[in-house]
Amino acid sequence: MARVHAFEFEDLSWFPKRIRDYGTDFLQFVTNKFDFYKGIAPLLSEALNKTGQNEIIDLASGGGGGWKSLARHLKEENPSLKITLTDYYPNLNAFNNAKEEDPELYSFVEESVDARNVPVHLNGFRTQFLSFHHFKPEDALKILQNAVDNNAGIGIFEGQKRDVPHFIKNLLSPVSIIIATPFIRPFKAGRILFTYILPIVPLFVLWDGVISVLRTYSVKEMEDLVQKVNGSESYEWKIGLNKTKGITVPYLIGYPKS
Ligand SMILES: C[S@@+](CC[C@H](N)C(=O)[O-])C[C@H]1O[C@@H](n2cnc3c(N)ncnc32)[C@H](O)[C@@H]1O
Repeated sequence: MARVHAFEFEDLSWFPKRIRDYGTDFLQFVTNKFDFYKGIAPLLSEALNKTGQNEIIDLASGGGGGWKSLARHLKEENPSLKITLTDYYPNLNAFNNAKEEDPELYSFVEESVDARNVPVHLNGFRTQFLSFHHFKPEDALKILQNAVDNNAGIGIFEGQKRDVPHFIKNLLSPVSIIIATPFIRPFKAGRILFTYILPIVPLFVLWDGVISVLRTYSVKEMEDLVQKVNGSESYEWKIGLNKTKGITVPYLIGYPKS
């Protein structure tokens, strides 16, 4: 399947923040409920150990993603783990909720943070979940180059492969939203309104989910991107697909060799 970079509503600056946040809240709920990143926890843990890091700068955090369950796994090896949530369009309600739930673990940046040009004062191992496909090849390359230029480790994880089974799976996302919505916290009347009465959330998540599959980079495309990074030879790179309990997570991990 060829890569197609069609538009996603989430990327449009005029798209209503409230609706975008309901979408990222849904992703947060699902990825934690299904312990989505259990399979890649050992890979990320190893990278943190190798770089001696306990600080994570999570880019494109959305509603906080799967950190609730992933952090539990990482903390077994790294009890002093700290996570800073950031985004180009920060979902501050979700960031505040995460911090209130575990102030020792989470902090966040209120201002917009661009994954392609991370402020230098944000030191730590960079992560990105379900978001690399949002970037066209030239911007994806900027993300990797910016990490290498700042000598930062980086771990990129997706939640789907670009293939027909994932395309079909994403066609069913409205059903998941309709079932999951009453359980998403905090309760918001708007979430109910825009899911069941005016079903904008299921429709936008359906569109963005299907397009996400078409935009997802293959292992070969990620390898080709890494080859283009100036200074890539000074980094250890691990690129592949992790399959755990029926969940496929493409990953790209890089950190300085020393
Ligand atoms: C599909 S959501 C993923 C959210 C979260 N990481 C998760 O796993 O649920 C993609 C996120 O990428 C963010 N994003 C888009 N462009 C960005 C950029 N240039 N820099 C940082 N974040 C960006 C969006 O605001 C959105 O929150």
